[in-house]
Amino acid sequence: MKLVAILGFHLTLIFVVKSLSHSYFSKSSIIINTCNSDNLIKNVTVQHRFQCSAVCSQDTDCRRYLYCESDLSCKTYLDGTDCILSDNSGDCSCYRKDIGCTGGMCTCPLGYYGNKCENIIKDCLEGFAANVHRGHKKHLLTFIQPGSTPFEIICDYNFHGIMRILGRDKSCLFQNFNKTMQEYRNGFGIVPNNRWIGLERIYEIINTPADPPSFNIIVYMIRSDDSYCQTYFYNFDLSDAGTGYRINYDTSLHNSDFGGCGIPFGRNRFSTIDDDRTGSKSCPRTYGGGWWFNEDPAVDCTNGFFTGTMNGSGVDNYLLDDPHSQPYSEIYVMLGIW
Ligand SMILES: *[C@@H]1O[C@H](CO)[C@@H](O)[C@H](O)[C@H]1NC(C)=O
Ligand SMILES: *[C@@H]1O[C@H](CO)[C@@H](O)[C@H](O)[C@H]1NC(C)=O
Ligand SMILES: *[C@@H]1O[C@H](CO)[C@@H](O)[C@H](O)[C@H]1NC(C)=O
Repeated sequence: MKLVAILGFHLTLIFVVKSLSHSYFSKSSIIINTCNSDNLIKNVTVQHRFQCSAVCSQDTDCRRYLYCESDLSCKTYLDGTDCILSDNSGDCSCYRKDIGCTGGMCTCPLGYYGNKCENIIKDCLEGFAANVHRGHKKHLLTFIQPGSTPFEIICDYNFHGIMRILGRDKSCLFQNFNKTMQEYRNGFGIVPNNRWIGLERIYEIINTPADPPSFNIIVYMIRSDDSYCQTYFYNFDLSDAGTGYRINYDTSLHNSDFGGCGIPFGRNRFSTIDDDRTGSKSCPRTYGGGWWFNEDPAVDCTNGFFTGTMNGSGVDNYLLDDPHSQPYSEIYVMLGIW
């Protein structure tokens, strides 16, 4: 039994539906967490896992499936690699479609394209323009490669293919944001809703040569009653590692459904526990997260601060600077051009 499981992990499953269509799946991971925003296509009952592979093979939109032994359920999804479950008592397993071709049309992990899935988009804006989302106006996990290595990022195909660089969702399990500069540079977080994409990746996205130079940022804050606040920062720029990943922008603008809600976003260098530019304020250490903290000793650390470590208690550090003393349940920072 153990041997089968180990072999199953290493072997790519080949499933032949018709002579002209074939799909290759590989086993991915089950991630235990409580926040999920899966893009489910359908949920059907099957007799065996291979039947779930067949369901996914026959659907050109299917890129992943979750099969659960306990109730023989088969769920198919538009995007993603791993599956997020609050527990795995149902003995579920997750599979990603690595390639599936039917009648000359190939489905690749979202973001890859070509007859062998040999090409990849450089960012979500290119993906949006090329319609990789095939008209699905959703937030979809997409592979992009603006620099030397590909990574998965949430692209919002409702809105020009803007990219999520930070996600905070209080319904997620604990995620430590009290991390080093190296970790903030590379990115961390096991679920897209509670994740920092990485300074170097942000830098790569905005410095991809073919792109127009002017990126914007949106900070999207959602309250527990679903009302929201959006703040836009225009002509966003980020300096390189050598100059401390300083942010800059021209102007900002906000709108919300509950009145003024502008948030400050200082034009500072990035500080972390081990690379702290905030002097005796020690902002990253005090609040448990890296950020573009204000370097002026007279200005409060928490100005526009969104990354502090949260533990689900509702008194998490990243909401300390809430401009309306209202609890926010989700905060997303998105990068794009429009
Ligand atoms: C999927 O189907 C299973 C079994 O038929 C059911 O228990 C489960 O609630 C369904 N899940 C969703 C997300 O609809
Ligand atoms: C962040 O980590 C540092 C170093 O481990 C620690 O001293 C500090 O107390 C932590 N801060 C918070 C708010 O957890
Ligand atoms: C979560 O963090 C808050 C603020 O630091 C603290 O008061 C609370 O005890 C923590 N709760 C848990 C469950 O760790």
